[in-house]
Amino acid sequence: MGGVPLEWRVVNGDGIARVLVTRELPGDRWLDLLVRAECRVEIAQGDEPRDAGQLREAIGTRCDAVLGQLTEPWGDPLLAALKDAGGQIYSQYAVGYDNVDLAAATRLRLPVGNTPGVLTETTAELAVALTFAAARRIAEGDRLMREGGFHIWLPGLLLGDLLYGGTVGIIGAGRIGTAYARMMAEGHKMDVLYFDPHKNAALESWLWDYSELLEARGERRVSCRQVRDLRELLGACDVVSIHAALSRETRHLIGAAELAAMRDDAILVNSSRGPLIDEAALVEHCRTHLRFRAGLDVYEREPELAAGLAELDNVVLVPHLGSASRLTREGMATLAAANVRAVLNGWPVWPAADDLDDVRPFLEGDDTPQAAPSIVNAAELGLRRLPRGGWDGA
Ligand code: DGY
Repeated sequence: MGGVPLEWRVVNGDGIARVLVTRELPGDRWLDLLVRAECRVEIAQGDEPRDAGQLREAIGTRCDAVLGQLTEPWGDPLLAALKDAGGQIYSQYAVGYDNVDLAAATRLRLPVGNTPGVLTETTAELAVALTFAAARRIAEGDRLMREGGFHIWLPGLLLGDLLYGGTVGIIGAGRIGTAYARMMAEGHKMDVLYFDPHKNAALESWLWDYSELLEARGERRVSCRQVRDLRELLGACDVVSIHAALSRETRHLIGAAELAAMRDDAILVNSSRGPLIDEAALVEHCRTHLRFRAGLDVYEREPELAAGLAELDNVVLVPHLGSASRLTREGMATLAAANVRAVLNGWPVWPAADDLDDVRPFLEGDDTPQAAPSIVNAAELGLRRLPRGGWDGA
């Protein structure tokens, strides 16, 4: 069994379905949704990590749903405990779910929800912020100011790099990678290379149309091209930003050899998952390549940092803030709760869509669609999907 039992805040104690929420969440819309769906909502208190034993104990012998966190170990044993307790869904408060054993959940016939769409722009903006913080040495400048080290304007003080008109490489051109690519291409006129098994025709055609506009106004076109060889991308870019999901195949996608393939003055940004980078190799590379810079939001053994990382001036570090805008974090809570409510009510799953707005109907207005915004194993479980274009009749 686990450590100290968790403390809980109970809302709507007479509710019919018992829903565990493993942390307090921002906003109150998510809670309204669950209460209106006649759920008894038990919310774990405190900021400490939750271990499997504590969660198992909390699930007990009767639990209809869990709304959980990316920091929790939702492997086979915990999912099985949830299923045995009558659990109908595990809903993750995140778009990424590498902490969830999806194969086990599917085997147990347990739907797994996540929160796509609402964090796309917010996370892409954080990646842009890290990019420029690294390029323009913002954290070093901030430290210098606080230490009283700014004595006089000097021509050579903290020189960084201009990115305008350069080349940006995207590893993983899904929703967030696409949004980041557009911000860098449209805002900073950077050419885009992307490494992804799938061709991103929407991004390519958007940037083609944008180039037509640029050309019509007498400006240089921007290009956008899929690259099949990661090393080609790494060697060609001023900035490389990682937006791929973590899996067995993508773990340590960037190691010593890949870092060596990058330009000596390149910038590497990671706002996806820490283990995509071999962090020890990154520390060594940054130590020996002082013009190389990195902007990190995520860490291999989060929240720990690899030895030496915090001592490096050419690395900017923030604590997994990708989705941390108020609007997004409240929206994520709404989506995660809507997944729970829909499964408990036997509602269908929202149609899968590639456009960025596909979950907006859940986030705006007084009511939300009678559907689950996103169940990642819906196809494997044969769950009914709402036809595209209409939830009114659902
Ligand atoms: C996610 O959603 O996967 C982020 O890492 C946290 O928002």
